[in-house]
Amino acid sequence: MKQITIEALSDIHIHRYNENAAREAAWGIIQRRPDVLALAGDVSPNIDIYKRFLSFFDGYKGKRIAVPGNHCIWVDTDSGESSLDKIATLQQLYQDYGFTMLDNGPVEHEGVGFVGTMGWYDYSFKRKDAPGEGITVVTEASENEKRWEELTDADYSLKKATIFTPYQIMQTGWMDGERVALKDTENGVVYTDKEFTADLTEILRYHIRQIEPSVRTIVAVTHHVPFERMVRRSGEPDYDYCNAYTGSTQLGKVLLDEAKIRYLISGHTHAPCRFEQWSNRRETPILCHNICFEKDNTSLKLKV
Ligand SMILES: [Fe+2]
Repeated sequence: MKQITIEALSDIHIHRYNENAAREAAWGIIQRRPDVLALAGDVSPNIDIYKRFLSFFDGYKGKRIAVPGNHCIWVDTDSGESSLDKIATLQQLYQDYGFTMLDNGPVEHEGVGFVGTMGWYDYSFKRKDAPGEGITVVTEASENEKRWEELTDADYSLKKATIFTPYQIMQTGWMDGERVALKDTENGVVYTDKEFTADLTEILRYHIRQIEPSVRTIVAVTHHVPFERMVRRSGEPDYDYCNAYTGSTQLGKVLLDEAKIRYLISGHTHAPCRFEQWSNRRETPILCHNICFEKDNTSLKLKV
């Protein structure tokens, strides 16, 4: 059975200090000629920068696949822009540069299936225990200070909080709260994080079913993380508050349900790691890789 080579990049977060590093990484990939190039999201909110980055791969002849990240769907919410419209823009952009956006459907290459989604968060990875003694939190969802353990999903949905420790007061927040609008501009419906997560997860499940019969193994690519082991609990309350915005257990369940899914490539948490994810219903684990270009300036190399 022919093995194929894959290289993956995630969380490039192009800015003026790392654009050359990204260009060099792309050049390396063009030289090494992997069969598949996967981008796992968070290139830039800026479309012009995005285009420039994708053009770095002009000489690459292999299969190109991608999912966007949360930063990619940032918009000017004050002007009424919609992140769902931005997803449609990105889909076209990827197509223009020869990439398939896996959120729209799976692809097959030499008997290997590729499925993917940006994924989203439903707060299922929130830190439930307090990261220290005597910590209280105020959010706009509740008038009074509450203990960390009493925080509800309504609190997390606002993506802004003031945290009181015995030693200091911290402001924390997740910028998606200001830069993401999950708004369907045609009917005016605004989706909650939980609804969006559930929708994306169901679409992924459908894509897995579609590709499964015709491939020997499946590689999944997600931006947000599906497994708790990819969530870093730092002990810093302002950081750990944002654990809620890392991913979803629902996503992990869908992946574990399909035995042919043997590899996972994720990003988002900037906490690179590799591990085997088992469940008691599986005979083989999913080999999980969390990667972050901004941190290590390198691509993941896989043979499957
Ligand atoms: Fe991200």
